[in-house]
Amino acid sequence: MRRKPFIALLMAASLTMGVPAAYAKEAPTLPSQAQQALDNKIIKKINSDNIYDDIAHLSSEPRIAGTEAEWEAVQYIESKFSSYGYQTEIQPFTFESYQEPTISVRIGDKPLASSSLTYTPNGEATGELVYAGLATEADLADVDVSGKIALVKRGDISFADKVLNAAQAGATAVIIYNNVPGSLAGTLGAPNDDFVPAVSITQEEGEKLVSTLAEGQAISATVNITGGGISQQTSHNVIAVKEPTQKNKATDQIVVVGAHHDSVPGSPGANDDASGVATSLELARVLANMPTDTEIRFVTFGAEELGLLGSYAYVDSLSQDERDRIVGMFQMDMVGSRDAGELVMFTVDGEKNTVTDLSAAAGVRTGTALTYGQEGRSDHVPFHYAGIPAALFIHNPLEPWYHTPEDSLDKISKEKLQETAEIVGAAVYQIARPDTPALEKSKVSPKPVDYEKMAGGLQ
Ligand code: BES
Ligand code: ZN
Repeated sequence: MRRKPFIALLMAASLTMGVPAAYAKEAPTLPSQAQQALDNKIIKKINSDNIYDDIAHLSSEPRIAGTEAEWEAVQYIESKFSSYGYQTEIQPFTFESYQEPTISVRIGDKPLASSSLTYTPNGEATGELVYAGLATEADLADVDVSGKIALVKRGDISFADKVLNAAQAGATAVIIYNNVPGSLAGTLGAPNDDFVPAVSITQEEGEKLVSTLAEGQAISATVNITGGGISQQTSHNVIAVKEPTQKNKATDQIVVVGAHHDSVPGSPGANDDASGVATSLELARVLANMPTDTEIRFVTFGAEELGLLGSYAYVDSLSQDERDRIVGMFQMDMVGSRDAGELVMFTVDGEKNTVTDLSAAAGVRTGTALTYGQEGRSDHVPFHYAGIPAALFIHNPLEPWYHTPEDSLDKISKEKLQETAEIVGAAVYQIARPDTPALEKSKVSPKPVDYEKMAGGLQ
């Protein structure tokens, strides 16, 4: 999978002592010792052993979106939130996923190595092999492929058009060979009922077949494709809500703490992102019985790795009133690797906001200088586009184990977990505790970001 570059536009960390800018307007300015004493109500309770143990539980196997393993993680997370006294909800959402088929190609009786073209229909065809050039309409006017299998060269027109043209001319299957050395991993772009089964082979194999046919020898071929197709899958978000403790003194504001519980295939995802989920669980435990005047929502998202699907589904499910009331979203994604760099706060637009201000100030009080940068690539993105101040907490530079089978428990650092939990915990508690007035929500302009344009020259 092609990765977007890690955009680390580090801006000067202009940390101010005490109360952050977005907050200063109405908050009483407490001496920093008093602030620290309030932070300590949270910080002293955070125990990184708990976070580590939850990561251990979650990272025993990959948690691919839509699978039983992801569902088991969802149930574990939900039961933990419930055990701390939270109201919980498991929010399902569906997505489409393409299942690669099993394919076989035989020339006479001999198997031929082949690759599938994504979105090929399933099916079996046996027949005479006919060379159809590039399978343009003109090429097909010159040959009779009706009831036969078309051997087609890559180039000039799309794979989909080649398959459609050949099908239109009556071919029962299509074998496309590469026009550069090696095998070919292509896609037909999208499913189409007019396609016939289609596979690809190497340039070398393709040219051999073309010359055999050119010598006038007949070739019989079989193409067999089974088990491919699009299926509807279901993933889930886990939502745990802490209502304000004293309804009569409550603000109408909401804070969201997020992480994603799915992982990529083949990776146990200990850091990506069992670390963020387990840190959210620990903050939920610590905050559970604290008096608060702000609604706190802990949300762990499914199918982040498939394109932030869970967080888009969650934000879609919010009413405009709820969106207006959310003053900040803290996304923790990859917050515990011993082999990664410093804790950085990334926003989608590279601007500071309520979340980064509160966290920078909390970092000053807890002794960590946080830096800033601009990056999407996680569940803070849909919140930003809904006009909600949001930031991604992650260590930069990344560890080498990112999206590999080595993203496992043994690489997790309790110190890194503790540091992140303290900063996010102190920042959230500063908003939520009853002695601080409502925040002025920082402005976010929800303009889509052009990733391709930003990509130049970055790591
Ligand atoms: N944890 C990563 C996010 C990440 C990695 C952010 C490196 C910044 C730097 C996340 O789980 C991920 O891998 N996201 C996908 C993007 C998503 C839209 C599919 C990615 O970056 O490939
Ligand atoms: Zn992640």
